[in-house]
Amino acid sequence: MKKRLVSILVVVLFATFSFAGKPFPADNAFWNKAFAKLADSQLTGQSKQLPLPYAYNALEPSVDAKTMEIHYSKHHAAYTKNMNDATTGPEFASKTLFQLFTEIEKYPVLVKNNGGGFYNHLLFWMLMAPASGQEPTGELLKAINESFGSVDKFKETFSNAGKKQFGSGWAWLSVNENGKLVVSSTPNQDNPLMSTTEVRGIPVLTLDVWEHAYYLQYQNRRPEYVDAFWKIVNWKEVSRRYDEALKALK
Ligand SMILES: [Fe+2]
Repeated sequence: MKKRLVSILVVVLFATFSFAGKPFPADNAFWNKAFAKLADSQLTGQSKQLPLPYAYNALEPSVDAKTMEIHYSKHHAAYTKNMNDATTGPEFASKTLFQLFTEIEKYPVLVKNNGGGFYNHLLFWMLMAPASGQEPTGELLKAINESFGSVDKFKETFSNAGKKQFGSGWAWLSVNENGKLVVSSTPNQDNPLMSTTEVRGIPVLTLDVWEHAYYLQYQNRRPEYVDAFWKIVNWKEVSRRYDEALKALK
């Protein structure tokens, strides 16, 4: 009897410590709470396009002015209008865009494609800036080194995510539920905020690898476009979003 009790105790202790060592599963309630603390959580399905924070030619030679003009004034404008049109029903009146993302499977695919198209591009514009030789610094630099070994290794991992994404999509650097930086890619206009995305998190850097983002200038040479992106990353904004993400996860 005593032996049996000892065995049960050992099993219980083992199970307790094994579980304690594993990351907890983050559910929609967890993500809703975290996302609600982000400045972008004020966005809704009725939000409008924000002005581009620089001129169309400001990112040359990495991205040419004509591509920027068409990308912003045609593609992003269309996603925004189509999102607005797809979210006029009463079921959307009290929901933020992020709340829609955390239960995106409940809504028509138009909401997913255009809501993603609206938000992903808004983020993308903010995360680029005229070439200034910026590189990651401070806490962000420490976190990149911790997760990837070095900035160069991180760039290689992120670039590969963009170069190898089959067809249209995006590369992402996100903060996951454990506060760690992770790289992923998504197809179409999906993003890490969506409940249907495998690698979920708070995005802090993204790259559009749809052909409309580079074809005029680079034709089929997506790898050249991805490599040129590093000259125009707005690392100050990546850092700001990284700090914001860590606070939101507390
Ligand atoms: Fe795009």
